[in-house]
Amino acid sequence: MTNLTGTIALVTGASKGIGRATAIALAKEGCSVIINYKSDAEAAADTLKECDAYSQGNMTIVADVSREEDVARMFNDIESRYSRLDVLVNNAGIFDERDSPTNIETFEHIYRNNFLSAVIVTKYTLSLMKEGKIVNVSSIHGRLGYGRPGAIAYAAFKSALESYTKNLAKELAPHICVNAIAPGRTLTPMWGTLSEDEQKELGKGQLIGRMIEPEEIADGILFLIKNDAMCGEVMTMDGGMGIAYLK
Ligand SMILES: NC(=O)c1ccc[n+]([C@@H]2O[C@H](COP(=O)([O-])OP(=O)(O)OC[C@H]3O[C@@H](n4cnc5c(N)ncnc54)[C@H](OP(=O)(O)O)[C@@H]3O)[C@@H](O)[C@H]2O)c1
Repeated sequence: MTNLTGTIALVTGASKGIGRATAIALAKEGCSVIINYKSDAEAAADTLKECDAYSQGNMTIVADVSREEDVARMFNDIESRYSRLDVLVNNAGIFDERDSPTNIETFEHIYRNNFLSAVIVTKYTLSLMKEGKIVNVSSIHGRLGYGRPGAIAYAAFKSALESYTKNLAKELAPHICVNAIAPGRTLTPMWGTLSEDEQKELGKGQLIGRMIEPEEIADGILFLIKNDAMCGEVMTMDGGMGIAYLK
């Protein structure tokens, strides 16, 4: 899928951060982008404005992708406006400070938002996508053994997303190629408001010595969409964070 002009892409969680950067990168390639978001209509409208500077047929659509009824409604709207989907980026995700080995309620919340959401959106996508690309946004913490205290459910369900990615790739190839990206610490609103010192401190945990920019992850996602040899792969893009402790 080297030429994306005229293709239709859905990016979940595209009001901010990596999703926003991905939506804009896709629009620059000539895609019509469906910008999904959960709550921040103003930020989504801003992403739309940016996309409209590069391509036509873009739209925003509010839906909590952890809830199947919301996703079903979103796909009704998508189907009535577009006849097909060519690209899906399952990007929406959360970090929950309450994450702990004993908090089952939080495990379930993180499961719904970071794993089941991708499964639900993919289910509805398959009725509109006959050929295309799916990219799931995982995390370095989803790579087996790279989880960390304070993110046990987050790591577990990102690992599940990796396994789902590989098995889904086997189910859907060759018409639909499924891959995932596993970012390291990326400077997005997910981290809250970070001072320059905090950013520097977090950046030191990666071999590149800084946090990753969301546009750099969007570049990786674009590569997975455009390169037809990538199938069933989980591409780590962590600035060397995963191996940093081996220095
Ligand atoms: N930032 C990092 O360091 C990092 C590292 C590794 C992996 N990741 C992964 O990258 C993805 C994006 O992270 P980010 O850092 O860009 O996050 P972010 O800046 O917090 O943005 C999250 C986006 O997802 C949307 N969202 C959250 N829950 C949703 C739901 N249930 N339904 C629909 N939209 C939802 C938000 O919408 P509203 O704002 O409108 O509510 C927002 O647009 C996540 O899957 C995350 O786990 C991030």
